[in-house]
Amino acid sequence: MTVCSAPGKVYLFGEHAVVYGEPAVPCAIERRARVTAEPRSDDHVRVEAEDLSLDGFTVEYDGAVGDHPDVDVERSLLDAAMGYIDAAVSQAREAAGEPDAGFDIAVESDIPLGAGLGSSAAVVVAGIDAATRALGEPLSPRELADRAYRAEYDVQDGQASRADTFCSAMGGAVRVEGDDCERIKTPNLPFVVGFDGGAGDTGALVAGVRELKAEYDFAADTVTSIGDIVREGERILETADPDAEPESELLAELGDLMNFNHGLLSALGVSARSLDSMVWAARDAGAHGAKLTGAGGGGCIVALDPTPETETALSFTQGCADAFRAELATEGVRVEAP
Ligand code: PMV
Repeated sequence: MTVCSAPGKVYLFGEHAVVYGEPAVPCAIERRARVTAEPRSDDHVRVEAEDLSLDGFTVEYDGAVGDHPDVDVERSLLDAAMGYIDAAVSQAREAAGEPDAGFDIAVESDIPLGAGLGSSAAVVVAGIDAATRALGEPLSPRELADRAYRAEYDVQDGQASRADTFCSAMGGAVRVEGDDCERIKTPNLPFVVGFDGGAGDTGALVAGVRELKAEYDFAADTVTSIGDIVREGERILETADPDAEPESELLAELGDLMNFNHGLLSALGVSARSLDSMVWAARDAGAHGAKLTGAGGGGCIVALDPTPETETALSFTQGCADAFRAELATEGVRVEAP
């Protein structure tokens, strides 16, 4: 039995624009998905996913992609969850050269599904790591990031960037621009997350931005401007001492860029009333900056605040289901039990 875990993430800057080759800076956070993989003697895949959906489910199927188990769970939730696990198993089988390998898989996750915190990437990264290790063919974090990206790419019909999967595999703060991915140094930024209890439809939101961008030059310029914000943010981060507590001047500069980034995402139609009201609650509480994180449409915002004020204000904000401080996860994917 092999257990691996991988972190979720917040976007400091750059979601959506990253899909069109602009840079983005996601940061891994200490909220993890844990996947257990146990090889079977047949080619079946049995999945137990207590916390992956609100209901939890246990299914057994013959491992063929597209084969749907007969269980009493909402079809869209099941399809989404099973799609990622299917894709992770396919990547692990291919990497290990064992196309008929079967597994008992269990998934546990502290990361809300589809809420902009990279839940699917964390499950896929941890799943490929656990399954390849269980077959005696461990991969490096970079290989895991690459395989996890291919898995997400397949499930999301080619609409995924490398940002979530690379960040989850490597940990820390990363910079992603097209196929170029690297870890970057940042101080331990004081992230606070607000969650509206819902989720956005990533595929539909990405498609909406793509249509706007194709129709209006100013929408295309907005995407380029998000890239400019990211470049400015990187320049600011480069001047910071990664080993010192971040100074308030640094947080103020990053916060201004986050606020600008949120405004542009909102102009591209990917915010939501609940996200805007959490963003404003954070700003009113004294956060240096606040923005939605991930695909948008619902889910999470991220704010920068070293004091307890933002977390407290969010917890009293109508429409905020959960507020928590999110430490930067310096470690990416890791083995929990060999
Ligand atoms: O909501 P998430 O965590 O899946 O992030 C989506 C980020 C996008 O830039 C909108 C898409 C992508 O694959 O980068």
